[in-house]
Amino acid sequence: MSHRNDQTRVSLEKPVISRRQLLTASAIGLTSSFLWVACVRQADSFSCDLTPEQTEGPFYPADRQLDEDSDLTVVSGKLGRPKGQIIYLRGRVLDGHCRPIQGTQVEIWQASAEGRYNHPRESRNPISLDPNFQSWGRAITDHEGNYLFKTVIPGQYPAGRGWIRPSHIHMRVVGPTHRELTTQMYFAGDRYLDGDFVLQDVPREERHRLIVERQDPGSEFEPATGLYQFDLTVRPT
Ligand SMILES: [Fe+2]
Repeated sequence: MSHRNDQTRVSLEKPVISRRQLLTASAIGLTSSFLWVACVRQADSFSCDLTPEQTEGPFYPADRQLDEDSDLTVVSGKLGRPKGQIIYLRGRVLDGHCRPIQGTQVEIWQASAEGRYNHPRESRNPISLDPNFQSWGRAITDHEGNYLFKTVIPGQYPAGRGWIRPSHIHMRVVGPTHRELTTQMYFAGDRYLDGDFVLQDVPREERHRLIVERQDPGSEFEPATGLYQFDLTVRPT
């Protein structure tokens, strides 16, 4: 007979506690259980909603490039400007309690304005590379968790069987105090958002966290551009 069964047998054969004691003990046990569950929930509950994760996709840069900065509109050694609409992408990296994370790395990679990645998998793409576009960049967050990129709105591109991917920017956040986050940012109003299988992978109620509205850049930024604010909330390690 098992130890557990031994205990059951003993308690049945020898009722040494009264019913009132039993109820009191049960109440204490229940209270402890509730407290424990509450503590677990407290540890898991975040006041800032975590940013949904998304696939890395097949076009993460295969080779390092000369430029590793956060201005994708200037390529070292080139004088031209990239094709397309220039935008600023800024935001903050936060933990689940909305506290800024300083000194963490934010990477972005994306297609050019015409929908072409700078990647060996794109060698058969009839769309040529934009020589004035730096297709990958990185930034380190400041003491308030801020990052800033200057880039262009990526082109939509076919992903097979009538599926067109909406404009999107791939992002990755890597740092010592949190778990790595890989995701994608989308542009509000894009006609292909509803039919995108990658975005639909995110639960419907969370998708809005990945879709960003254009803001007026104001006097702070270059005129005739656009400003997009995308905060990233990461899990602690
Ligand atoms: Fe992509």
